[in-house]
Amino acid sequence: RLPLKHILACAVLAFGATVAAHAQPIVVKFSHVVADKTPKGQASLKFKELAEAKLPGKVQVQVFPNSQLFGDGKEMEALLLGDVQMIAPSLSKFDRYTKKIQLFDLPFLFDDMAAVDRFQASEAGKSLLDSIKGRGLQGLAFWHNGMKQLSTNKDKLERPEDVKGLKFRIQASDVLEAQFRAMNANPQKMAFSEVYQALQTGVVDGQENTWSNMYSQKFHEVQKTIAETNHGVLDYMVVTNSKWWEGLPADVRKGLSEAMAEATEYGNKLAGDFNERDKKLISEAGKARIQQLTKDDVAAWRKAMEPVWKKFEGDIGKDLIDAALKSNQ
Ligand code: LMR
Repeated sequence: RLPLKHILACAVLAFGATVAAHAQPIVVKFSHVVADKTPKGQASLKFKELAEAKLPGKVQVQVFPNSQLFGDGKEMEALLLGDVQMIAPSLSKFDRYTKKIQLFDLPFLFDDMAAVDRFQASEAGKSLLDSIKGRGLQGLAFWHNGMKQLSTNKDKLERPEDVKGLKFRIQASDVLEAQFRAMNANPQKMAFSEVYQALQTGVVDGQENTWSNMYSQKFHEVQKTIAETNHGVLDYMVVTNSKWWEGLPADVRKGLSEAMAEATEYGNKLAGDFNERDKKLISEAGKARIQQLTKDDVAAWRKAMEPVWKKFEGDIGKDLIDAALKSNQ
């Protein structure tokens, strides 16, 4: 039998530990790879502001932009290990976790961002947030960036034949790899943080990205031409570790969910304006030239990229592709 004073000492210690645990806010590390002045940068800062206001003293959100904490290739692993609690990779970076999300990389799938928005809000779209549950990940929201444009270090960039033989940096996506191969170009998967230097030194000739990513990373300073192709979408899924998420006190999970919903609305509204603004800033900077395309030019790009659809239809699922196409109407 333990003497009473030991029992009392243990009780005091246990009580102290409980009080200390409650006094400490839950730290939510949110890591991403782009600049603060981008749609994702702003949405994550808004999430921090809202979450901390809704859960004062209970939660502290720390946002790490610009691959400062973890870059591409490391952030998903860090999330699974519990080194960060939230990340928001582009939808092109989920290949290894589910084939379904490859849907978003199909070239010329969505007519515009309004269609992307409608699809993400649909039942089929929302089901994708749960598609990585089996891998220990929970999708919390879709965040917009925008439509991708194509850039190279060449003067001429109007038709698919202009990219033949050129090296392109791509995100880690098999669909994007097939897209560039369909145009007889050479794609190279590369982390976002390495793109500027790869363009500057000529390791690659070109890349595809949104206006806001190109401007905030200064890609326009090391590229000659940007063709306004709008050939695909670059959007994000905010993901968390499902075990961590389910283990949160109910009130904290609720507060974070509300903050996420509000930050999503805020960021998604902002995304279009940011891309418009950054397109204008790129044009005004006078470094890279913006190539406008005719309807016939766009039709030629669409035709060149078409074979990609057939190749991935089986993996993605025809139903999902049809549901996405419906959102164009
Ligand atoms: C890219 O790698 O080009 C983008 O996914 C970066 C980002 O997060 O917008």
